[in-house]
Amino acid sequence: MIETIQWIDNRVVMIDQTRLPVEEKYVTCRTYEEVAAAIRDMTIRGAPAIGVAAAMGVALGMLHASEAGLDAQFAAICDTLAKTRPTAVNLFWALERMKRLYDSLRGQPLATIRRRLIEEALRVREEDIEICRTIGRNGAVLIPDHATVLTHCNAGALATAGYGTALGVIRAAVEAGKQVDVFADETRPFLQGARLTVWELQQDGIPTTLITDNMAGHFLKSGRIGCVVVGADRIAANGDVANKIGTYSVAVLAKENGVPFFVAAPVSTLDLSLASGDAIPIEERAPAEVTHVFGQQVAPAGATAANPAFDVTPARYISAIITENGVARAPYAESLARLANRSAMVS
Ligand code: MRU
Repeated sequence: MIETIQWIDNRVVMIDQTRLPVEEKYVTCRTYEEVAAAIRDMTIRGAPAIGVAAAMGVALGMLHASEAGLDAQFAAICDTLAKTRPTAVNLFWALERMKRLYDSLRGQPLATIRRRLIEEALRVREEDIEICRTIGRNGAVLIPDHATVLTHCNAGALATAGYGTALGVIRAAVEAGKQVDVFADETRPFLQGARLTVWELQQDGIPTTLITDNMAGHFLKSGRIGCVVVGADRIAANGDVANKIGTYSVAVLAKENGVPFFVAAPVSTLDLSLASGDAIPIEERAPAEVTHVFGQQVAPAGATAANPAFDVTPARYISAIITENGVARAPYAESLARLANRSAMVS
């Protein structure tokens, strides 16, 4: 099993996702600032995984906090972590969860506060693995036997505490005895599909074909793709989904060609405070990620490049949203509100 992020000897240890698949290197964060830097530079990435990292970052920060001005230190830690990446709501969900606990512990000895925050961060991690397994079971029934499934980016074990959301659905279908082949979009510019999804699925022995992003339409039209499954970074109340840049194009092409398009995500990815996807903040990353591919220049010096890291797929392109609490279908305003208030489905 891939260990995306762990709490070891009061340190946060994560596999360096900027080095995969060339090198399996682990990074040790000793301070919350190091955790924040690891989220920002994408040493760890994927919405649920950065939520776990944020929770552990808070626990780590408070481990080194001093007795005087504890509230101000707590606020500064949360603020630093909140400013790392804006789109995945799981990060803010995790910070809010840690804050609620901290508020409930006011007046307790510092040693107790530290212990409880560490326990909570570990719980966020453990729960995430369980949630992914439940998402997998809930979604596996939607994957036909002998299907070829297209996925975009990496919504796998590396993007979560383990097992994955979109890849969790694929894994669960395979565990249920289905024959599943995967087509993985390479996912320019950061290549999460080529580097991470293919690496993960290779380890599981799930047959995977890597394609460049601009091949997706061709294969969707060819009739070879049975369905699309992707993850999500934030889902608005009306079912609009923010996910890795390029997801929207895949969804439109899927609908045009009559291929079901599924989104798999935990309930912590829902942001019902936003009426539609128009309000989801889209992270803009450095143009150098587009003009260069891992240090190799691919555009003329001085080229202007845009680099939105996410796009928003309108709900009308989405056949179903698979969560741990069940599967939502249109009209999403009602189905998502219902699922948000339900507890995890035991299938
Ligand atoms: O920029 P990233 O790599 O953090 O983006 C990741 C994605 O867009 C994933 O599809 C999403 O976070 C879901 S992960 C289970």
